[in-house]
Amino acid sequence: MTAGGYLLYHSIGQYPDKASDLARAMAGFADAWGAADDGQWPVVLGLRARFVDRWRDILGAAPDTVTTCESVTQGVAMLMGALPSGYLRGRKVLVAGDCFPSNHFLLTGLQQSLGFELRTVPARQGNTWVEDEDIAAAWTHDVGLAILTWVSSTSSHRSDIAALAAHGRSMGSLVGVDLTQAAGLLPFSVAGTGVDFAISTSLKWMCGTPGAGALYVSPDLTAECQPTLRGWFSQPDPFNWDFGKFSYAPDIRRFDSGTPGVMAAVASLPAMDWHAGLDHAGLVAHNRRLTARLIEAVQALGLPMQTPLAEAQRGGSVMVRLPDSHPAAAVVAQLRSRGVWTDARGQALRMSPGVMTKLDGVERALEALGEALG
Ligand SMILES: Cc1ncc(COP(=O)(O)O)c(C=O)c1O
Repeated sequence: MTAGGYLLYHSIGQYPDKASDLARAMAGFADAWGAADDGQWPVVLGLRARFVDRWRDILGAAPDTVTTCESVTQGVAMLMGALPSGYLRGRKVLVAGDCFPSNHFLLTGLQQSLGFELRTVPARQGNTWVEDEDIAAAWTHDVGLAILTWVSSTSSHRSDIAALAAHGRSMGSLVGVDLTQAAGLLPFSVAGTGVDFAISTSLKWMCGTPGAGALYVSPDLTAECQPTLRGWFSQPDPFNWDFGKFSYAPDIRRFDSGTPGVMAAVASLPAMDWHAGLDHAGLVAHNRRLTARLIEAVQALGLPMQTPLAEAQRGGSVMVRLPDSHPAAAVVAQLRSRGVWTDARGQALRMSPGVMTKLDGVERALEALGEALG
């Protein structure tokens, strides 16, 4: 089977040399880490710093404003635990009902300990995503913090983050954004949108590995934050061992704690380097061509779209609702048997074309979908 039917960029991104690049990075790590000398930390911390720099480029972020985290959920928890209580206690935290469920689970659990109330903006009747105007309408002065989702994982609906962040500022709220679904596909800049923090993983369009998350916090907010998870690496000088003299680093390093888990950054760096060298406009054009073809054909099949039609309101995926008479798992299996890789959330079939997806793979997907639905 050809790889042209790979449609899982909303889940795990692939590029042609990923396996060999990853193997080389891991072998390099093994060589450095297994050498009986004192060269380990300069090598691996240098690689981690390069990983962070790649992320800074993707986010348009200044030096010392980005660090690593294991996952989006962990990055949000790191930030929430560090905020001065005035932003949260007795106030509302706003999220949309199409946020990543893991963030919602986290926030629900933090309500009691951090003293806020979670306000979840629902999707309109029959809709699969939450409209920006409904988020803005629910975003009142009592909101201390809003966590926006740039592109939803269940609809690929894209929010206008700059407009929502401007509204948030007028309400006196902090604004964070989960960039996971579109980071590295569509252009984004923390300065251009004015968000206070942003989180993502490297798994999708950057084709990185699990565990390679990134957390951006603006310098102004960082200066106010006191991370609860703190340790020797949160200090300006990690080698200060004086119990009485702990201090937070003036920049993003204060969000580090114990010995950094560098493995995921080291493993993901070749993919980040590959991604940095990509023709980004070409990737978007390729994605737009193939998603347009998918949209045209699934509509001809009569399948209800779960993704907005307007290109400006979409991330990189096309999601459609399968009829209840055709269980999604069986449809996904039938597509797989034709060398087409998709997945489903409930009855929503998710398809996301990226660099390894070819037009013939998309056509094969559509044929197989037509057959699966009879
Ligand atoms: C919008 C969004 N946020 C977050 C995540 C991942 O979160 P975590 O890294 O906590 O597993 C995903 C994964 O698909 C996602 O689509």
